[in-house]
Amino acid sequence: MKRGEAVSKQMVADLQPGQLVDSYFAVTQMQLQPYKDPTKGHFLSVLLADRTGEISGKLWQGASQVQGIAVGDVAKVVAKVEEYRGSRQLNLSRIEPLSQGEQVDLADFLPTCPKGRKALEQELKAALSKFTDPHLKSLLTTWFSRPDFWNEYLLSPGAKRVHHAYLGGLAEHSLEVFHLAGAMAKLYPVVNEQLVLAGALLHDVGKVKEYNYKYIIDLSDEGKLLGHIAMGYQMLQEEVAHHSDFPKEYAEHLGHMILSHHGKMEYGAPVEPQTIEAAVLHQADLASSQVKQYAQTIESAEEERWLFNRVLGRNLYLGYIKDI
Ligand SMILES: [Fe+2]
Ligand SMILES: [Fe+2]
Repeated sequence: MKRGEAVSKQMVADLQPGQLVDSYFAVTQMQLQPYKDPTKGHFLSVLLADRTGEISGKLWQGASQVQGIAVGDVAKVVAKVEEYRGSRQLNLSRIEPLSQGEQVDLADFLPTCPKGRKALEQELKAALSKFTDPHLKSLLTTWFSRPDFWNEYLLSPGAKRVHHAYLGGLAEHSLEVFHLAGAMAKLYPVVNEQLVLAGALLHDVGKVKEYNYKYIIDLSDEGKLLGHIAMGYQMLQEEVAHHSDFPKEYAEHLGHMILSHHGKMEYGAPVEPQTIEAAVLHQADLASSQVKQYAQTIESAEEERWLFNRVLGRNLYLGYIKDI
């Protein structure tokens, strides 16, 4: 807690059973739950987080008196770490909002892309320099040279959970898709490489508005109501409107690529890929998201030889990994 002197924060990943906790965490879930015996009233069940992980907690007494805290806030917590069914859990004795004027270090909360902002920025500049088609070059240069957009694109998470779920994740993922799609386009001369590369940088552009991210990554109201695919399509239309000579065919094709990049209707695509460029983009998007899930599972492992990945729905074998 910062008021004058900064006190170092106790991080979720370091908490050990038996340890006393007096620190602050972001609230990612919060729910009053009834006791089995209704005469006992309710207890409070919370999920608390920082950049190192999440831990659940229970406030057994005085739950109905907790005020001034909502999901997305940071709360001060006094608790003891216990072990419950093999997992760590906090037994809370107090949870309260920050006092007025009390500040916390934002860097304690959201994880950031391991590559770092500078490297992402350079990679994005290099990617933008690859456009030779005058219409695509002009569209992308004007769009990305707006400081607000440049900043949001480099800061946005790629997801709330699952893959690239940290600040800078959108840019990192989009650049992976850019490189993968570029490599595929080289194998098939029939593919319009410039359009595929533009589609790669823009396919998830709606994510700059889909998420709120301060202490936790959460969907914005607009994100919940419209989703990044529709939002990205809309942003493209608004941008194209600034370029009176932008070919209608390009606008339509890029729009199709944004709308179809999830591949199938059951994965949220309003239309399925119907051009070779859209197919390449979809495959590159899928490759980036899936391979990243393996990579993140490997990075999160300590000594395990097998680790279950919930999203992939299977155990991953880590026994062949060589130290790098
Ligand atoms: Fe997407
Ligand atoms: Fe994507």
